Amino acid sequence: EAKSSGQNSDQRRWEDEVIHTALPHYGSLDKEAKNKQPKYDYILDEEIQFVQQLTIPGVNQILQQQKEKPKLHEHEDENKRKHRELQESRKTLPIYRFREDLINAIREHQVLIIEGETGSGKTTQLTQYLYEEGFCEADIEEGDEDEDDDDNEINLPGVKKKTKKKMMIGCTQPRRVAAMSVAARVAEEMNVKLGREVGYSIRFEDCSSDRTVIKYMTDGMLLREFLGEPDLASYSVLIVDEAHERTLHTDILFGLVKDIARFRPKLKLLISSATLDADKFSQFFDDAPIFRIPGRRFPVDIYYTKAPEADYIDAAVVTVLQIHVTQPLGDILVFLTGQEEIESANEMLLERTRRLGSKIKELIVLPIYSTLPSDMQIKIFEPAPPGARKVILATNIAETSLTIDGIVFVIDPGFCKQKTYNARNGMEALTITPISKASANQRAGRAGRVAPGKCFRLYTAWAYQHELDENAIPEIQRTNLGNVVLLLKSLGINDLVNFDYMDPPPMETLRLAFEQLYALGALNHKVELTKLGRRMAEFPLDPMLSKTILASETYKCSSEILTIVSMLSVNNSIFFRPKDKMLLADTARQAFFAPGGDHLTLLNVYNQWKDTNYSTQWCFENFIQFRSMNRARQVRDQLEALMERVEIEIQSNPADTVGIRKSICAGFFYHTTKFSKNGMYKTVRHQQTVLIHPNSCLFDQIPRYVIYFELVLTTKEYMRQVIEIENEWLRETAPHFYKTKKLDDDESVKKMPKVLGKIKAELERNYS
Ligand code: CDP
Ligand code: MG
Repeated sequence: EAKSSGQNSDQRRWEDEVIHTALPHYGSLDKEAKNKQPKYDYILDEEIQFVQQLTIPGVNQILQQQKEKPKLHEHEDENKRKHRELQESRKTLPIYRFREDLINAIREHQVLIIEGETGSGKTTQLTQYLYEEGFCEADIEEGDEDEDDDDNEINLPGVKKKTKKKMMIGCTQPRRVAAMSVAARVAEEMNVKLGREVGYSIRFEDCSSDRTVIKYMTDGMLLREFLGEPDLASYSVLIVDEAHERTLHTDILFGLVKDIARFRPKLKLLISSATLDADKFSQFFDDAPIFRIPGRRFPVDIYYTKAPEADYIDAAVVTVLQIHVTQPLGDILVFLTGQEEIESANEMLLERTRRLGSKIKELIVLPIYSTLPSDMQIKIFEPAPPGARKVILATNIAETSLTIDGIVFVIDPGFCKQKTYNARNGMEALTITPISKASANQRAGRAGRVAPGKCFRLYTAWAYQHELDENAIPEIQRTNLGNVVLLLKSLGINDLVNFDYMDPPPMETLRLAFEQLYALGALNHKVELTKLGRRMAEFPLDPMLSKTILASETYKCSSEILTIVSMLSVNNSIFFRPKDKMLLADTARQAFFAPGGDHLTLLNVYNQWKDTNYSTQWCFENFIQFRSMNRARQVRDQLEALMERVEIEIQSNPADTVGIRKSICAGFFYHTTKFSKNGMYKTVRHQQTVLIHPNSCLFDQIPRYVIYFELVLTTKEYMRQVIEIENEWLRETAPHFYKTKKLDDDESVKKMPKVLGKIKAELERNYS
């Protein structure tokens, strides 16, 4: 009896959630998407006709074909068959029709802007076309180097005397996940092992070799390559991909590659973007021609909610179920803002589908976000088994960087996580922000790649019209520039005011970056790079972390600091806290607490793990995430290699927690806070009220002075990862910044020297 009543209550909930509340959910239908036609600059009318004539099979047919194909060529071995199929599928991409024209245009022009709908094949195909057309071959005679060597070579009769050397085709991506997954895909298409001919390079992970000819990398990594090779001589082609994302690193790259293109006339430069901003790119690159690839876009019907949604995660989950029970097969893509949201939506979906049991068809829920391990990421590309439906819970990454085939439904809550920067107080925060109209349209477009689709916007049509900005603000205008200023200074670019920016950063942001680098000792009073600054630039880290590492030399604890920095870089995913074992997990976490603060707790976790010889079982028993630990270990290895480059000896001194904390202080003195009252702290620089995060080991101890690693804004402004310090340490470790021995004096923060006033005046003059 109990069983049947359980069923009844399931039944009732099912009706509540899916049928009744859901159906009247959506209102007006937007025809706008249907009328939107791609623009054709470079391409003739016949191509437009071709696009219109294309008949694309529905999703079911695609699935059917995938099932049938193997039977046709049973004599081939699995590998060959797969390769042949991949080659066939390459030919079905929209870009394939324009291969000839594209190659000709690239031969003809040094700089070309390439614009095409997401999924048209820009990222995966351009590099291969260029490789196939011999763009990796460069004769040494082109340059003046190695001229003498040529004389030693045997000149065979009838053979032109030209030494061929391989050059690389580089392609940048704003996101690590995209760089990795696209490289994996291209390696597969070319039937080579990833890391050989086709490789990728992301921060702390270089998966390329001497043989590599096609290299995908994050935009940040290409920037760092300028340090070792200022003219990027090993590249014959550079593709700045996903240019429309306008990340800070991409924006800086624009200025740098435009410059090297001038003195390397044979270098080819391709700027590729989704259907956004192409004209602006063209203008910036001296009116470079635009090649537009018409996409195959099916009409997408857009639905808005009639009233604003209070809880968009819940609304998204309900909408997924609603689509699943009322709509024909076709996968669903849901845009959420980050890992936490994705995980909670994932749980809600699993829980609700479990309750519905066999009443519904199979629903496969797949998360994708940047810190997800790569073997899990690959799963999103596998087609759903027949009769089942995939629902992909993704961050912004699925907006343009990754193309997942088979998506017919898009659910768009209208938000993304965005970095914001307050140039007045230098506070950086990740906040959940409404997306732009351009983003909303990109998201909707994901539904119309394989068949006509539907996009459910969890906001009102009015909000779309009146509340969303046209375009997102480029990152350069809303982020801390410390890192980039340090890098550019190391490249010998001194005049950062007159750097060739597509959109210049706010003056105040630039000034703050100078000020911070001065306080860290990376710049001297003439705003020149110091020896310390040059060494700091070697590390692909925030200047505060680089400084911490360099300071550890003084305090003879570089080994401990390396571990701490590596643990900080895997960012809050060390401790595992399953819903059903929260208390046990918390007890396990507290057992690692170390006097002095959270950084030392992290050190403790790492060292204990190391003592078990990096055991998986140990992690499991202690509620520690093995994958995160492994990543921290990788990062640590990379940093250790960089230590050799800057000639810092690795010294271990685990008992000297003062030395360890002083090193951290030397990098993070900007983040000093002082206890004020009622458990609240005030930041020393701006008197802002903040609290110690409840997860911290210092939560109930209330030390007088603490330094935090980062601030997180939830209901209040919390300091995450804090250590206790003595105020005397500030003057010792940051003499440029603190003038008095005691922080009790409100005037303790030193006035910046006159020279910084000069910078300010200079900046103001240039900006006016
Ligand atoms: O760069 P763009 O958005 O123009 O397209 P792309 O990323 O080159 O994607 C072209 C096609 O490659 C997609 O339609 C996918 O079918 C496939 N692809 C894949 O299967 N797995 C990846 N990791 C990347 C692309
Ligand atoms: Mg792409």
